[in-house]
Amino acid sequence: MSEYFYSCMENQSDLQRIPVELLHLADPSDEMLHSYWNKSVGVVCMCDHKIVGALLMTPTRPFVAEIMNVSVDESFQNRGIGRELIRRAVQKAKDMRMRKIEIGTGNPGVVQMLLYQKCGFRIVGVDLDYFRIHYKERIIENGIECRDMIRMEMILDTNM
Ligand SMILES: CC(C)(COP(=O)(O)OP(=O)(O)OC[C@H]1O[C@@H](n2cnc3c(N)ncnc32)[C@H](O)[C@@H]1OP(=O)(O)O)[C@@H](O)C(=O)NCCC(=O)NCCS
Repeated sequence: MSEYFYSCMENQSDLQRIPVELLHLADPSDEMLHSYWNKSVGVVCMCDHKIVGALLMTPTRPFVAEIMNVSVDESFQNRGIGRELIRRAVQKAKDMRMRKIEIGTGNPGVVQMLLYQKCGFRIVGVDLDYFRIHYKERIIENGIECRDMIRMEMILDTNM
């Protein structure tokens, strides 16, 4: 059985090694992707020298970071990789002295909402019409329009 290796990426040339097709699983817009890709810290999961999972976390305000993208190759999903990417990002944010991590998901994203709550995030609001305002194309997921963004956050205990 193949093993998974996780690592953090902090410089731009490393971040550019993440395949764009992988990141498109979570974010179909190149324009949006390029607005945060190079400003992010990355956590990746490698299997047989290939990046099969990636997470991008961007500092957005003093002491606040947002997980902008978490994507796991379809043939590697449901094996705990997404959860481990988030666990490592939370640890990285603590190391960076962040006090809060935010994450957002579209209204059809039930799997994502389950996962994020299992990781310790709480729902704190809804950004109505976020996807209609910020994405040129309509996004359909699970048979319904991805229209509103469910905002979630985790307050970090920096003593842990
Ligand atoms: C969302 C995503 C990152 C999850 O990654 P993953 O590696 O498949 O998730 P994990 O295997 O770590 O799953 C962790 C938890 O999520 C939930 N989950 C994941 N896939 C699920 C599914 N198909 N059905 C129900 N629950 C599911 C489970 O509750 C699981 O918890 P458990 O370990 O207690 O069973 C992955 O499905 C993905 O890349 N999706 C496409 C991109 C995307 O939507 N990204 C998020 C943008 S907001």
